[in-house]
Amino acid sequence: MGFEGGQIQTAIYVAGESEWPIAPEAWEARAQEVLEPGPFDYIAGGAGSESTMRANRDAFERRRLLPRMLRGNRERDLSVDLLGTSSVAPFLLAPIGVLSIACAEGELEIARASAATGVPLILSSAASHSIEEVADVMGDAARWFQLYWVNDREIAASFVARAEDAGFGAIVVTVDTPVLGWRERDLANAYLPFLTGEGCAQFFSDPIFRSRLEQPPHEDMLVAAAAVLATFPNLGLTWEDLDWLRAQTELPLLVKGVLAPDDALLAFEHGADGIVVSNHGGRQVDGAVATLDALVAVRAAVGPEATVLVDGGIRRGSDVLKALALGADATLLGRPYAYGLALGGREGAEAVIRQLMADTDLTLALIGGRSAGELDQSWIAASS
Ligand SMILES: Cc1cc2nc3c(=O)[nH]c(=O)nc-3n(C[C@H](O)[C@H](O)[C@H](O)COP(=O)(O)O)c2cc1C
Repeated sequence: MGFEGGQIQTAIYVAGESEWPIAPEAWEARAQEVLEPGPFDYIAGGAGSESTMRANRDAFERRRLLPRMLRGNRERDLSVDLLGTSSVAPFLLAPIGVLSIACAEGELEIARASAATGVPLILSSAASHSIEEVADVMGDAARWFQLYWVNDREIAASFVARAEDAGFGAIVVTVDTPVLGWRERDLANAYLPFLTGEGCAQFFSDPIFRSRLEQPPHEDMLVAAAAVLATFPNLGLTWEDLDWLRAQTELPLLVKGVLAPDDALLAFEHGADGIVVSNHGGRQVDGAVATLDALVAVRAAVGPEATVLVDGGIRRGSDVLKALALGADATLLGRPYAYGLALGGREGAEAVIRQLMADTDLTLALIGGRSAGELDQSWIAASS
C-alpha cells in the first residue's frame, strides 16, 4: 500500500493544533513576516506585472475535476517512475536557486528534507551549496541536477560531469533563462543576491571556473561574482547546441522551460529524454501562456509515451491531480518549499512536502482514483 494522507490529517486533529501553517497562502504570508523584503520578493515575485504567475494559477482554477464514487479504492499508489528515478509522490522538488536567502543552509536543508521524504530534489546551478556538498548529505537518495547553460562550454561540461560523478540521476537543462527577466520587485529593491557571491557555489567550487580567475573567490569575492554573472547570459544558443550537451553525458537529459509544442518536438529530436513544461514560475516572460494550458498542447504534439513534467502554480493536491489528468507524468513543487525552509529549515520544508502528499492522497481517494499513473482527461469535467 502507498502513502496514507489520512494519518497526517488525523495527527493534526488529535494534537489539537497544527505546528505549521496549512494553507499555501498562509505559508507564504508567514514567510513574508520572517524574511527581509529583498529575499521574500526575490522568491515570491515574477516578471513584469506578474500576469504569468496569475495565469498559471487561473489555469488550475478553470479546470474542474470530475470525481467518481464507490470505486473501492481503499489502497492508492502515489509513486511515479521517471527515467529511472522514482518518487514516492507525483512531484519532485523544483530547482530553486540561492536557497540560502530562505535559510542559511538552504540547499543542505532541502536536500535533507528530500532524502527524508523520498521526493527527489532537482539541485540548481545557482545554489549556495555545491553539487558535492549536497550529494554528501543525501547519501543514496534520488536527486537530479539542473544546468544553467552558461556561455562557457567547458564550465557547463564540468558541471554535468561533476553531477554525474556525485550520483545525480538526470540533467535538467533550463532553456528559458538565457538572460534574467524584467523583475519589477527585485529592481525596486535593487536586490540581486549573486552580485555579492550568494548562489554561486557551483561556480566557486568548479575547477574550470576557478582556473579562469586570477585570484580564488574567497580572496576577491566581488570579482568572482562578476565573473559568474558574465558567464550567465547565453542568447546565442540554438537547438543544434543540444546535440553537444546530449553527447556530454550518459544520464537522462530533460529540457526545462518548454511551452510551445514545436519546441517540445525539437527537444526530443535533439536528444532529450524528457521535458518540463515551465515558464519559470512566471519569472521570465510576463504575459506568457499558463503552463497547464501549454501542457495540453504539448502532450497532444509529443504523444502519450514521451516523458513530460510540468510546474508553475502547483499549490494543492487538486493541482497535482489536474496536471496529471491533463497529460503530465509528474509535477514540480516550487515556491511552497522555499517558504517551508524560511519558516523551519528542513522541518518546515518537510512539513510542506508531507502536507502536499497528504492532500494529494486524500483528494485522489475522494475522486475515486487508485494511482497517479491512471489519471487522464476523463477525470477533468468536460465543461471546464
Ligand atoms: C526563487 C526562485 C528561484 C528559482 N531558481 C531556478 C533555478 O535556479 N533554475 C531553474 O531551472 N528554475 C528556477 N526557478 C523556477 C522553478 O524551478 C519553477 O519552475 C517555478 O518555481 C515553478 O513555479 P511555482 O514556484 O510558482 O510553482 C526558480 C524559482 C524561484 C521562485
